[in-house]
Amino acid sequence: MNYFYIPELKFNREELYHCFLRNKNEWAFYGPTKLTSLHTKYVDLKEVDYIVNQFKKPDIIDNIKFFKTIAGGNVSAHSDKRNVAINIPIDTTDKQHTIFFESKGDYNNPNIKVGDKQMSVQAKKYNDVVETQRFILNQPACLNTSLPHGVENLSESDRVILSISFKDEYDSFSRINNLYRSNQLV
Ligand SMILES: [Fe+2]
Repeated sequence: MNYFYIPELKFNREELYHCFLRNKNEWAFYGPTKLTSLHTKYVDLKEVDYIVNQFKKPDIIDNIKFFKTIAGGNVSAHSDKRNVAINIPIDTTDKQHTIFFESKGDYNNPNIKVGDKQMSVQAKKYNDVVETQRFILNQPACLNTSLPHGVENLSESDRVILSISFKDEYDSFSRINNLYRSNQLV
């Protein structure tokens, strides 16, 4: 399994969008160009405490970030440093897809740009892939981010989502899935 939806997780799109507009943290860019980058920045957990507090154990959350994919842009096949994410739609349309791939070749470790600084990251970028599955983030979803995946934004607006990462042994897709199945996640 690549992902599953979490319809029980309640969120307020409008409020999250205002929180996004208010956020003055620095963007980090994963990807070669603006159009093909994932733009990320940290959210103060206090600003989204009503989401954090829906988790049965809020301290399993490591961080929460805004992710932005530019209108008409895409994020090519990669796997994250983290193994699992819960993504929540903020400003999204049905012309935007999360795509899973199977790798048919090798990979390299891309650079991340924060301001003028370039850093190497543990994420992987895949050079030869075939698409295996795609879905629309129209409700909260838990994704296996250790598998090759990407984003395609064919709409005329930027795609903005919230992405939750988990700590230590909770940074595991099977662990989060098991917690969810046994009603211990939210
Ligand atoms: Fe990713």
